[in-house]
Amino acid sequence: MRIIVCESAEEVALRAAIESIEYLGEALSTQSSGKSENPEASCVLGLATGSTPLGLYREWIERYRAEEISFRNVTSFNLDEYCGIPPSDPQSYHSVMHENLFRHIDIDPAKAHIPVTDCDDLSQSGERYEAMIEEAGGIDLQILGIGSDGHIGFNEPGASFSSPTRVKTLTKRTREDNARFFPSIDHVPRTALTMGLGTIMSARAILLLATGKGKAKAIRDTVEGPITAMVPASILQFHPYATVILDAAAASELALIDYYVDAERNRQS
Ligand code: PGA
Repeated sequence: MRIIVCESAEEVALRAAIESIEYLGEALSTQSSGKSENPEASCVLGLATGSTPLGLYREWIERYRAEEISFRNVTSFNLDEYCGIPPSDPQSYHSVMHENLFRHIDIDPAKAHIPVTDCDDLSQSGERYEAMIEEAGGIDLQILGIGSDGHIGFNEPGASFSSPTRVKTLTKRTREDNARFFPSIDHVPRTALTMGLGTIMSARAILLLATGKGKAKAIRDTVEGPITAMVPASILQFHPYATVILDAAAASELALIDYYVDAERNRQS
């Protein structure tokens, strides 16, 4: 794993924007970007909700407005969606993504996918989502946040490492963490349709972002702990291209922090 330690959450957003734009290369290029525009270039982005990626989305929007990047050749797949609330609910991930990213950029709405949960057959919906990801050619870059319990997507502790998109029950801790977005904890949905750990691990590259002291233990367990279903994100130790971008607080419990900082410095020199 590549570990990038930043001073602040703002710097995490900036670094994530730089890393993602560099990785996706000409798939995001515009005439004014200075890069050669290749009409054939396209990419598939995996997106996440929660508070953490919002800074990255603001950076992308800013660069889109400055005509440095374009999302017209991007297909996206979000990690998850709550069950039991309609897409029109302001707390649905359909609404959250529209409000915080999609409505500000030039992505084709027909190519911005989020798991469908307002349907009769959720397991079929999950299977269809997997098929759509495959048809699109697989995910090039998956953006991830992390739960304080080590979840990625809504793959809670105990999730199986090879799981596909399917319904998961949220832990009490996750519902408590997410209660801040709802009138009360009783309004937080109990289940969600989420990409599985198998789906996430199939992405060609991963960018996991974490900020704040509340994530420090989950990050330590993910990066330096044993690979265990008790910490779903720890499976990322098996991923060949996983980059973790942290602020100082989220990195504060890492035993090898000096080494990561040194390694990153050497990489850039
Ligand atoms: P957060 O959520 O970014 O709002 O902390 C992350 C997650 O639960 O995956």
